[in-house]
Amino acid sequence: MSVRLCGIELAHPVLNGSGTFDAIAARRAFGDELLAQFPFSAFVSKTITPEPRAGNPPPRLWETPSGLINSIGLPNRGLESFLESDLPQLAELGVPLIVSVMGTSHAEFARLVTGVAAREEVSALELNVSCPNVESGLIVGESPGETCSLLEAVRPLTPKPLIVKLTPNVSPAPVAVAAAEGGADAVSLINTLRATATDPGGGRPWLGGGRGGLSGAAVRPIALLQVREVAAAVTVPVIGMGGVSTGAHAGDLIEAGATAVAVGTESFRDPMAGRRVASELERELRRLSSV
Ligand SMILES: Cc1cc2nc3c(=O)[nH]c(=O)nc-3n(C[C@H](O)[C@H](O)[C@H](O)COP(=O)(O)O)c2cc1C
Repeated sequence: MSVRLCGIELAHPVLNGSGTFDAIAARRAFGDELLAQFPFSAFVSKTITPEPRAGNPPPRLWETPSGLINSIGLPNRGLESFLESDLPQLAELGVPLIVSVMGTSHAEFARLVTGVAAREEVSALELNVSCPNVESGLIVGESPGETCSLLEAVRPLTPKPLIVKLTPNVSPAPVAVAAAEGGADAVSLINTLRATATDPGGGRPWLGGGRGGLSGAAVRPIALLQVREVAAAVTVPVIGMGGVSTGAHAGDLIEAGATAVAVGTESFRDPMAGRRVASELERELRRLSSV
């Protein structure tokens, strides 16, 4: 079950999706038992930004019949406070740490990459590119040119693996190719799909942020297709996610070309879902290899 992802040894192929598992709160709730039973083989932090962000006004969630729309808006403590307070606590989890970062310019991304990569607790960085570049007005991850130029700007800043988290809101294969050309060591997908919901009591949008991102079971067929397309287009490893709630779902993404998979929305229903998915996946892979 062990896999090597960008030179990082993982005990099994199941990670968490950024922003879907609060390991510090979970440690407070479950104590050291969490460490003995940690559900993921590496931990991906929630996306951090250079300065603290309050996130979007409530309501922030809307459940659909088979998915979840979130309009959380990346609330976080900001880079300095993350490095000082959160990172030492995350380092106690005992698994490799991947820190997710998002900036709105090359200069902001450069500050994040330099600050995070300098810390020995960090094994790799994930660049969340589902954000506008204030200099061009374009969503970085929706443009191959923007993505390649961002990578060219930050690649020289660290030898640590850089993973680019792709958006499903455009066809991701050309963006994945551009990320790899710019020097990305891996790509991960899918992030959430733009979506909205109407207030049942009136015609206005329900979410405080007006719109949000859809995740969960509803997006799994889209994730499967996009992972397959991206894996066929690049030679760097692919981390697949989107609606995974069983080992069979994880196996489908691996069969589509993913090296590792991530569990996201399912962890809100069952915080130990990652562990269950990993053990179901082990049975699934054994069954497939014996056929
Ligand atoms: C509540 C919530 C918060 C999220 N926060 C982040 C985030 O901070 N950074 C990020 O790159 N993706 C974030 N995501 C996207 C997930 O990491 C994942 O890409 C997406 O939800 C698809 O996987 P899933 O269907 O298994 O949830 C978030 C998703 C949810 C549901």
